[in-house]
Amino acid sequence: MPSSTVQAIRASFFDFRATASSAEEIAGQARYIEDGVLLIEAGRIVRLQPIAPGGDVKAAEVIDLRGKLIMPGFIDTHIHYPQTEITGAPGGELQTWLHHYAFPAEGRYHCAQHAARMSDFFLDQLLRNGTTSALVFGSVHPQSVDALFSAASALNMRLIAGKVMMDRNAPDYLLEDAETSFQQTCELITRWHHHGRLSYALTPRFAPGCSPALLEKVQMLRRRWPDLWLQTHLSETPQEVAWVKSLFPERENYLDVYHHYQLTGRRSVFAHCLHLEEKEWDCLSATHSSIAFCPTSNLFLGSGLFNLQRCWQKRVKMGIGTDIGAGTTFNLLQTLNDAGKVGQLNHYRLSAREAFYHATLGGAHALDLDKWIGNFEAGKEADFVVLDPAVSPLQQLRGANSKDIDEKLFALMTLGDDRNIMQTWVNGQPVWPRTV
Ligand code: GUN
Ligand code: ZN
Repeated sequence: MPSSTVQAIRASFFDFRATASSAEEIAGQARYIEDGVLLIEAGRIVRLQPIAPGGDVKAAEVIDLRGKLIMPGFIDTHIHYPQTEITGAPGGELQTWLHHYAFPAEGRYHCAQHAARMSDFFLDQLLRNGTTSALVFGSVHPQSVDALFSAASALNMRLIAGKVMMDRNAPDYLLEDAETSFQQTCELITRWHHHGRLSYALTPRFAPGCSPALLEKVQMLRRRWPDLWLQTHLSETPQEVAWVKSLFPERENYLDVYHHYQLTGRRSVFAHCLHLEEKEWDCLSATHSSIAFCPTSNLFLGSGLFNLQRCWQKRVKMGIGTDIGAGTTFNLLQTLNDAGKVGQLNHYRLSAREAFYHATLGGAHALDLDKWIGNFEAGKEADFVVLDPAVSPLQQLRGANSKDIDEKLFALMTLGDDRNIMQTWVNGQPVWPRTV
């Protein structure tokens, strides 16, 4: 249970006051408090306030973390928990990698004990990397999602997840029929949607894995529960785009397959979006759908370069995803590092402010969770990460040679990794390093 006494934490703080619709606006919303105190009570933020030079904190007990930087917990908008164990497996392009590694790994999640063990491992990986919320794919087995939600519930995490739905173009041991998929998904929604901080996401794997009959079932579920989330893949590789055109010749483009079944909209999150046509961008924008940008995965599988400037121009909400296990790290600092490099190859300079926005408040906005998490606004849930920006000799040297907070943050994003994560707090409680 969250503590009902007020806790005070003294440190440096960085967050964004409000959501933004341009990179320039983001810069203006950034808030850096070099010496401040965060007050939390019953799992919520009471307030964040600066401490005047030479000033002190008036509170019974202060957790003194001066020298550390506290940010809102990182938000991973696209990740597959049943692929944890194949992270970093020899790649190839998407289809080869799916058939050689992802599908066999997911097949093991029919075993509830394996799913329970891996759920603990997976959540531990999120927390040790400072990630406090995620939108997560399970496997096709409902027991995989039961295991993950049970473990997340014990930690009181704000997590969204769903059972994969797929009835074609995968090995038999992962395929289901549309009716079974529908029924099992109904049961999971009833069990877990709005259970504490948990929410359910309809999870049709991607258009090539779903027959029209299954997509109709997804549509029925969304109609029955309009406040569900929905996650899937969109336009990851050119081959996949061509494949979708051949499977759904009557649809105008890839996104139109999902749109036809009314699967676009607020709380619909489409991973990748690397090869979109103009009309698809317009549809994402008009329907208030979101994108999960997964740079380490896109580079690892050689899928393509995400177009960040287009995303801003079209005013499409976007968050950062690791896409474990095609992504190569759970760590969002390393993921932002690769996002910056993707930007460079696309003639776009990703500033540190913009990058950390996407990993925090921007990610919360993309997941429609920004009324609960994403910054230190009073009343929000107290999910945050305590960073040590200089844990290696190179980081210390770089820090000493940084002229302002922007350079320090840029160094954190380009040189940082899990060694920089000192503590992770969820709902006002320290949950990593684990004490039990
Ligand atoms: N497209 C369909 N399934 C997957 C998956 O598991 N990973 C990635 N990266 N793309 C997909
Ligand atoms: Zn994915």
